[in-house]
Amino acid sequence: MKRFKILGTGTALPKRVMTNADLEKVVETSDEWIRERTGIHERRIADEKTSSATLGARAMKAACDQAGIEPDSVDAIIVSTSSADAIFPSTACWVQHELGIRGMPAFDVAAGCSGFLYALEVASSMLSAGTCKRIAVIGAEVMSKVVNWEDRTTCVLFGDGAGAAIIETCEEDRGLLASNWGADGNLAPILHAPAGGTRMPASAETVAKNLHTVTMQGRSVFRHAVRAMTEAGVKAVEDAGLSADQIDLLIPHQANMRIMEACRVRLNVPEEKMFSIVHRYGNMSAATIPVALHEAREAGRVVDGSVVAFAAFGAGLTWAGAVVRF
Ligand code: ACO
Repeated sequence: MKRFKILGTGTALPKRVMTNADLEKVVETSDEWIRERTGIHERRIADEKTSSATLGARAMKAACDQAGIEPDSVDAIIVSTSSADAIFPSTACWVQHELGIRGMPAFDVAAGCSGFLYALEVASSMLSAGTCKRIAVIGAEVMSKVVNWEDRTTCVLFGDGAGAAIIETCEEDRGLLASNWGADGNLAPILHAPAGGTRMPASAETVAKNLHTVTMQGRSVFRHAVRAMTEAGVKAVEDAGLSADQIDLLIPHQANMRIMEACRVRLNVPEEKMFSIVHRYGNMSAATIPVALHEAREAGRVVDGSVVAFAAFGAGLTWAGAVVRF
């Protein structure tokens, strides 16, 4: 068991709401198609000046405020993102810049939508090893700036937002009861941004062809996602030695209601025990789990002693499962 307690959580969500009806004016789609295929009703869209670090810093500040601590009192900042501020430096360093703090290590974890659970695994291992005592774990995304707004098969799926959790080492039996993570890079081509890195540097041609944006083989991702996410969730619950009825809440990665439902059914968790925000925010990639966690805590669905199962999949492909006692 990797022990930690949550001191505070927080979110940052852009004010602008884009509904499915708004999207009907952008691409050839319909509210009905989007709801039926994904469960999404609306998403938030950041303004021109807002980056992933802007939202990440705001979420971290909110989590620190809830914890009653100053941002510069954390021993490390880990940001998980699929929509980094730039190739370098890390979005975590830009979060420091936004907050005007310095000194503690700050780095990113790139694992697509599994990023927050990857970051939690890294952070809790650092706490267990005694490397740090208090860590800010952030999921921050401005996906609206990395999707192709002419591609109806992808642009309707994503949204912007950030969530953060401040975790601290503790003696009590709280923290990760079990966790697993994995990846299959052979599947990288089914969900990626082809250009803008060293594999295919940005050029006038790549920009003209929108090759710096999300490119996805939706059906293939769907198939692998259902398998990877459910297996990761089931393994985490089994490794924790728990039965389904001992899980107080399931928080899956919120990409698509159909994928979330498949995971819930396989885990044998009743409908009312799955926490869902996908209808309001769409797929915020690495930010969906920390935003859902914060909203679940605010709603009184995660309290002292709650046992929560998490499961995620993302670009890579990556996957992760975790069971946390709060
Ligand atoms: N509006 C209307 N019609 C559409 C739209 C749209 N927005 N998008 C596609 N269609 C059409 C297609 O063109 C196709 O038409 P055709 O039959 O005439 O060719 C039809 O709808 C069916 O298309 P499919 O792709 O087969 O639809 P599917 O049922 O598979 O749903 C979806 C598509 C929602 C994308 C699904 O495949 C999915 O959810 N995949 C997983 C996506 C995902 O979770 N990605 C995670 C990214 S996370 C990360 O790590 C960044």
